[in-house]
Amino acid sequence: MKIHDSLIERLKDARTVVFFTGAGISAESGIPTFRGKDGIWNKLKPEELANFNAFMRNPDMVWEWYNHRKKIIHESEPNPAHLTIAEMQNYFDDVIVVTQNIDNLHRRAGSKKIFELHGNIERNYCVKCKKQYNEELDFSEGVPKCECGGLIRPDVVWFGEVLPVDQFKGGEEAAMNADIFFIVGTSAVVYPAAGLVYTAKQSGAVLVEVNLTESEVTAIVDYSYLGKAGEILPQILQAYKDAVK
Ligand code: OAD
Repeated sequence: MKIHDSLIERLKDARTVVFFTGAGISAESGIPTFRGKDGIWNKLKPEELANFNAFMRNPDMVWEWYNHRKKIIHESEPNPAHLTIAEMQNYFDDVIVVTQNIDNLHRRAGSKKIFELHGNIERNYCVKCKKQYNEELDFSEGVPKCECGGLIRPDVVWFGEVLPVDQFKGGEEAAMNADIFFIVGTSAVVYPAAGLVYTAKQSGAVLVEVNLTESEVTAIVDYSYLGKAGEILPQILQAYKDAVK
């Protein structure tokens, strides 16, 4: 893949580089995406699994699914795409990750400034009193309960729920301040997260998309690289390193 010289020139002038990421960035780590070929939502109904009423109706089933996902995530490792973003911290003043993923892989890769728009599967909280439970939960007697009697749920955002305010605000500020705004491995169809692409565009950022296929936002980006994030992001960083050495 040829990386455009003009993108490298823009990177040379960049101070704030933002990565807006989705499930596709973790696909090469072995974590299934939601949409597209082999997407989770082709086989399972989001309204039965990623939904508060579904959880209250059938917490065992929802927990079974999240524990299954957690197992896959625990068995996976950050891939070259996550690692390249973390390495970018050595080359730019401010590197900010704004992710829709709940898998913690950006943190495990070493990224420091991360806004998690849809929560994090490593955390849990009580539906009633909101107390956090971040240690390993015990399912030996069914779905674990809080000391107040409420059910404990994963700290992830379900359909119809509000995004964590501080995380979304951080994401918005990042989009507004971005010199370069990368959009990596997301279909960019889930709102309000996807709206950050337009915020970045309106704020004057250079938009760079990395995706296997074209997406909802391809038409408005400045550069579109079609292929695997784990291959293209290292190529972009290498081209940058070659240009500045
Ligand atoms: P999607 O599953 O909708 O989109 C994944 C995108 O990644 C697709 O556009 C793929 O083409 C692309 N892709 C797949 N493998 C790739 C690779 N190796 N390199 C680059 N791109 C690749 O995932 P999201 O956009 O993250 O929300 O979905 C957004 C939200 O919808 C999720 O956070 C989740 C889901 O329902 C909630 O659960 C609230």
